[in-house]
Amino acid sequence: EKDGYPHFMIKEIHEQPAAITRTITPRIQDDLPDFSGDQIPDTLFDGAENVTIIACGTAMYAGMVGAEFIQNRLKMPVTVSIASEFRYSQPVIDEKSLVIVVSQSGETIDTFEALKLAKQYTDRTLSIVNVKESSIARESHYVVYTHAGPEIAVASTKAYTVQVAMMYLLGFKLGLMNGRLSEAEAKEKVQALKTVPAHMEEVLQYEKRVKELTSRMVNAQDAFYIGRGLDYRVAMEGALKLKEISYIHAEAYAAGELKHGTISLIEEGVPVIAIANQQKVYEKMISNIREVKARNAFVILISKDKAIDDPTICNVHLSIPDVPDDLTVFETAVICQLIGYYTSVGKGLDPDQPRNLAKSVTVE
Ligand code: M6R
Repeated sequence: EKDGYPHFMIKEIHEQPAAITRTITPRIQDDLPDFSGDQIPDTLFDGAENVTIIACGTAMYAGMVGAEFIQNRLKMPVTVSIASEFRYSQPVIDEKSLVIVVSQSGETIDTFEALKLAKQYTDRTLSIVNVKESSIARESHYVVYTHAGPEIAVASTKAYTVQVAMMYLLGFKLGLMNGRLSEAEAKEKVQALKTVPAHMEEVLQYEKRVKELTSRMVNAQDAFYIGRGLDYRVAMEGALKLKEISYIHAEAYAAGELKHGTISLIEEGVPVIAIANQQKVYEKMISNIREVKARNAFVILISKDKAIDDPTICNVHLSIPDVPDDLTVFETAVICQLIGYYTSVGKGLDPDQPRNLAKSVTVE
């Protein structure tokens, strides 16, 4: 039941810190990732030379976050495939490929069929699934269950953040087994991951502020989510959250791409959610944000800065707790979920039951 919340979606947004704790705790031993309780042998990771991640929708965006880590921190080749594309493509994978399939329901037909195809090439298939004994869980060689609990709202929230947490833990394990992360580095990362639920609680305190600012969103025709690197990946999930439940056209752009076309769409009052949490590209990102601000966009900035009240940068600044860049995705995701939810509610829509969408897509 809704436990006093008006919708399942907002209840599920608030359940995230506990869901992450439930998901990661059984997989951490002495501050190191440990999947022995999931019956995952070390040989699954040991000798894996490349990674392919397959999923749909939000689950695919969670996979993209994992891919950023695997490529940029572990320096391993990684591909993310949309399941409905992968299953009709010529897979370039072999027994050295670790295939990670991500699905909340475990029943998405394209993801299921893509998994079956991948199994023709490798015995290293691992699924990240939320629903016990679902088709994808049973079909993959190995499964790790996320413990989000039942997700009722069509728009995925807690299932996404637990998938991301699981991707990180698996990434740490993969790095350790392949000599790409030292034990000390892995420990430091696990310790930081353990602080995520507390930081998410902090961000959930922004609910009222986010609700207020969505009064600027409800009449929008379009909205843009911009970021670089990991922030671009979470921008994609943020844009999906807005479009699926508020019916506002929303797009995510890699900020550096704006001037290759999209900036022509920026006009007075268009909401731009700008995410600037990656130190490596921070200055570049701020200059991209100035460009959209100069065209009178309504800029909502999400960053770790303590305070920015420079009117040439943003209209609203949401300052998130200072955590390692990789982990900002959790905090940013919460803000994007709240933006989507309150925009939908502000438009008088039912965020739990968006038009044309089903919770589990079992048709092709
Ligand atoms: O059950 P799955 O994770 O396989 O579902 C995949 C997508 O249909 C799903 O993530 C969808 O994009 C979300 N409900 C959007 O919020």
